[in-house]
Amino acid sequence: MSLPGLDRRAVLGSALALSACGPKAASQPAPVNAPPLKTVAPFPVGTCVQAINLDDPAWTAIALDQVGQLTPEWQMKMEYIVQPDGSFRFDAPDRLAAFCQSHGLGLLGHTLIWYAQVPDAFAKLDEGRISFEQAYINYILAVAGRYRGKVVGWDVVNEPVAEDGEGWRDSLWSQRLGDFEHIALAYRTARQADPDAALLLNDYNLEYNPRKRATFLKLAERLLASGAPLTGLGTQMHVAADIPRGQITAMMRDLASLGLPVHVSELDVSIVRAKGWMTSRADLERRQLETYVETAEAFMALPARQRWAFTLWGLRDNQSWLKRENAADTPNLFDGQDRAKPALAALAKVFAG
Ligand code: XIL
Repeated sequence: MSLPGLDRRAVLGSALALSACGPKAASQPAPVNAPPLKTVAPFPVGTCVQAINLDDPAWTAIALDQVGQLTPEWQMKMEYIVQPDGSFRFDAPDRLAAFCQSHGLGLLGHTLIWYAQVPDAFAKLDEGRISFEQAYINYILAVAGRYRGKVVGWDVVNEPVAEDGEGWRDSLWSQRLGDFEHIALAYRTARQADPDAALLLNDYNLEYNPRKRATFLKLAERLLASGAPLTGLGTQMHVAADIPRGQITAMMRDLASLGLPVHVSELDVSIVRAKGWMTSRADLERRQLETYVETAEAFMALPARQRWAFTLWGLRDNQSWLKRENAADTPNLFDGQDRAKPALAALAKVFAG
């Protein structure tokens, strides 16, 4: 048997892992010994990070082993950076940037403009002193400029499409600067601040809602037609284990149709958000593995130049943002005891080709 990029130990580990899907697996999981994802994937593999994770040796051991790129989970958002008086704080993002630099990791800035975050300092701006538009531009120049050369890219605008897929989000940004114009302006300004960064557009439910996906693609086309420097498309992929087979594959094909690189930007596969026809946890865990695998296969099927990166929204179940919604959720690739799940080995196998 010859599998490029896999050593013998890893192959044996994967085989063990896959055989762990039998009935005994739920109570006594076999140890999974898969090659680290970053060593087999022919594109960057990433995860999200908070500054506090850097103080946790268990987190750093797993992250440095598995991934080559980090996305700040919230500390590069306006909610963190913009203070009530309109000043900016950069302590945590600076720390994340320094960590990435010293460990040779890529850093994806996330995110400059998001309808969901409109700090008071913008809502109550004294426009006798500075225009709303200038304050908006200054923010992007300050943040993207500070991390120029230190990030591989930015999610410039996050979640621009309305929930039902009919048009774009309404926000203070769209009200004050125009629904399309504020988006295009964000891209032009980010490019001015950082000539080399990838400038991505990121959204969710693109696999569940084809109408939302079509609107997302139309926005991307319109941005490109207007000359805005959009360089890639992010699909968050906060999906549930019962997502019907084929939906992720269909999304990936559609997203690739513009020829832009695609970023799987926030992948996790919720167990508890799955509803209806599956009752047993074992069934859901099997579907969780299959969903990770379908995502990896659909991504691998893209032309190499369109595979921007594959980012997991967390590595360890215990640290998932979904725990706040339901503590019983286990959406990631490492379980509560930091053991790799069979899904990790399955993903590594797909990435190894
Ligand atoms: C979430 C983080 O995981 C949480 O820690 C934070 O409190 C809220 O944001 N879409 C996004 C991410 O683009 O920024 C969100 O991250 C998850 C949904």
